[in-house]
Amino acid sequence: MIGNGNVALDVARMLAKHADDLLPTDIPGNVYAGLAASAVTDVHIFGRRGPAQVKFTPIELRELGAVPDVDVIVYEEDFPRDEASEQFLAASNNQVKVMSRTLNGWLTKESSGASRRLHLHFLHSPVEVYGTERVEGMRFERTAPDPANPGGVTGTGEILDYPLQAVYRAVGYRGSPLAEVPFDETLGVIPNDGGRVLDPAAQPVPGLYATGWIKRGPVGLIGHTKSDALETVTRLVEDLGNGLLPEPVEDDADAILSVLSARGISFTEWDGWLVLDAHERALGAADGSPVDRERVKVVPRDEQVGISRSVELVAS
Ligand SMILES: NC(=O)c1ccc[n+]([C@@H]2O[C@H](COP(=O)([O-])OP(=O)(O)OC[C@H]3O[C@@H](n4cnc5c(N)ncnc54)[C@H](OP(=O)(O)O)[C@@H]3O)[C@@H](O)[C@H]2O)c1
Repeated sequence: MIGNGNVALDVARMLAKHADDLLPTDIPGNVYAGLAASAVTDVHIFGRRGPAQVKFTPIELRELGAVPDVDVIVYEEDFPRDEASEQFLAASNNQVKVMSRTLNGWLTKESSGASRRLHLHFLHSPVEVYGTERVEGMRFERTAPDPANPGGVTGTGEILDYPLQAVYRAVGYRGSPLAEVPFDETLGVIPNDGGRVLDPAAQPVPGLYATGWIKRGPVGLIGHTKSDALETVTRLVEDLGNGLLPEPVEDDADAILSVLSARGISFTEWDGWLVLDAHERALGAADGSPVDRERVKVVPRDEQVGISRSVELVAS
């Protein structure tokens, strides 16, 4: 895994976990089968800066240390102990200090003899993925704290090669533009004021709103995304109340259904979702595995809509 953010942690944890430990979740059958066939023994996560510059969050990092039959391994040489690094840490926020304690704690933790290992490497800047027919390894340059730029690193010229069979990238995201919608090329977001999309003259575009990462950039946990959506919808409702939406809006919640149908978009309603929910729970109950399965997720969208709607039709 390349990257030291929560996406890297999520993916690495899933790759390292034994498939059976995922049975109590809603893991779909094909994903379970894929993970159950995995021959993985070691998962490596590489960050280009130091342990005090990770973008993980404390809970997600701690979860990594609690995966059954997986040892977390860190390396002393990846922990800079120079004065500037100590000062950087001392000036960091509490989250970083908590994670630093967790990471340092793993330095002295004895191996439990687990059958899988998760290695965290810091100060490794990616140089090259190598291999002919397929990935055979990856080359990194060791970095060191840059005294001229606190929190930054410089290359040391030392090359480190790791034989690997697969490489996954989790180095953040960049939004992409939509036709006819204003776009900020520098930040990779739709320019907006609290969710109201702004034109190049910084005036609101009537009827156009943005939310999520395209509104504020690729940062934040699920809770942030919810409050962000609430802010945008609040603006929309205000504009509706003030007659600022460009087209007349029917005062009828069902109007959206006719629009979707007219456009040939398949959708389900709340009752249909409840049918799908019951179906997924029934799949879980019928699953022959030794652990209780609350549900088995139906993944293909067509199948989700089909199940919810076909039973609805039969019921009506
Ligand atoms: N459980 C959760 O709640 C959860 C799960 C997943 C994601 N999220 C959130 O979703 C957002 C996005 O997460 P993310 O992990 O995609 O992004 P992220 O937090 O921005 O982390 C990206 C990582 O990639 C590294 N990186 C970027 N360019 C690189 C390069 N050229 N070479 C090597 N490393 C490079 C960055 O290093 P530098 O710092 O050196 O740039 C950083 O460590 C975050 O706010 C995250 O917390 C939350």
